[in-house]
Amino acid sequence: MNIEASPFTIHQNRDAYSMKLLFLTIVTLTVLALPAPAMADPIVIRFSHVVPENTPKGKMAIKFKELIEQRMPERVSVEIYPNGKLYSDSSVLLAMQLGNVEMAAPTVSKFTQFTKKLQVFDLPFLFKDMASVERFQQSIAGQKLLSSMENELIVGLGYLHNGMKQLSANQAIKSPSDVVGKVFRIMNSDVLEAQFEAVDAIPLKKNYEEVFSLLQSKAVFGQENSWSNIYAKKFFEVQNYITESNHGVLGYLVVTSAEFWYGLPENLREDIKLALDEAISYGNKISAIKAEEDRKKIIDSGKSKLVSLSSEERQVWINAMTSVRKMFEQDIGKDLIDSAVKANQ
Ligand code: LMR
Repeated sequence: MNIEASPFTIHQNRDAYSMKLLFLTIVTLTVLALPAPAMADPIVIRFSHVVPENTPKGKMAIKFKELIEQRMPERVSVEIYPNGKLYSDSSVLLAMQLGNVEMAAPTVSKFTQFTKKLQVFDLPFLFKDMASVERFQQSIAGQKLLSSMENELIVGLGYLHNGMKQLSANQAIKSPSDVVGKVFRIMNSDVLEAQFEAVDAIPLKKNYEEVFSLLQSKAVFGQENSWSNIYAKKFFEVQNYITESNHGVLGYLVVTSAEFWYGLPENLREDIKLALDEAISYGNKISAIKAEEDRKKIIDSGKSKLVSLSSEERQVWINAMTSVRKMFEQDIGKDLIDSAVKANQ
């Protein structure tokens, strides 16, 4: 049967088509008018530290932020607060326990109120060089230290280097007799206090942010720090001499709060940790380069003169400070000190 389309059927079809079009238009407009499906807000990691951005720690933090924002832009964001803008090292750990900041990387010297074990890093003349420090940190004993503060709800995520410490002062320091009765700014560490007391100097615990003005005003005679920290905060402009003593190590522990860390979904936590490990190994490479570069810049500036020690002169310092190790042996643990010594071989 030949069914011819009558004007009536054509009309009917056109009506049906118009209805369909109208329906689709209404649906589309309705969908467009609806608010976008609610996306969860990104998790914010506030990373607080006390040094400028042009330091191993500053650069490591920036690298971490970049990696996180490349890899998980909608899920996590990182806010960096350098130069002690948010917290000084004396308040940041409490702030972390209270949930006011998620990450920090104070020097290992600044955890004494939470664990005595990390004091091992402050013992004078314990590590031969940075390679020994790295070997110790990667050893079983060194890795165990990362979780030594979990009872205090602080989780160690990794070690970051800054280099060996040097002594800067208003006068040339060659032998321990040059520092008798002189005031030295130190970090908040009982081992560092004992180290200066062993040579009859007067240690003064102060925050990093205060050091430049203490040196400039000559309220203190000198201080100890890495080449990078001496350069970054211009200590070399207000100190006449720097003794290349390599008498100790300046390194950091990147930490977070247990509540924040274990509250993250497991896969996200793993991804953040991977990004952090990468940023730390980048920071560690930078630290070796910067120690050399910043040392050279300081010497080239002519503002601070380099004082070198012969191995005999250095041995006099080692002998003068040797008692410190015994003083803290019980607190730190002899096994841990022995593991550190072993890493020198
Ligand atoms: C210092 O207080 O001298 C250093 O710990 C600063 C830092 O974080 O490197």
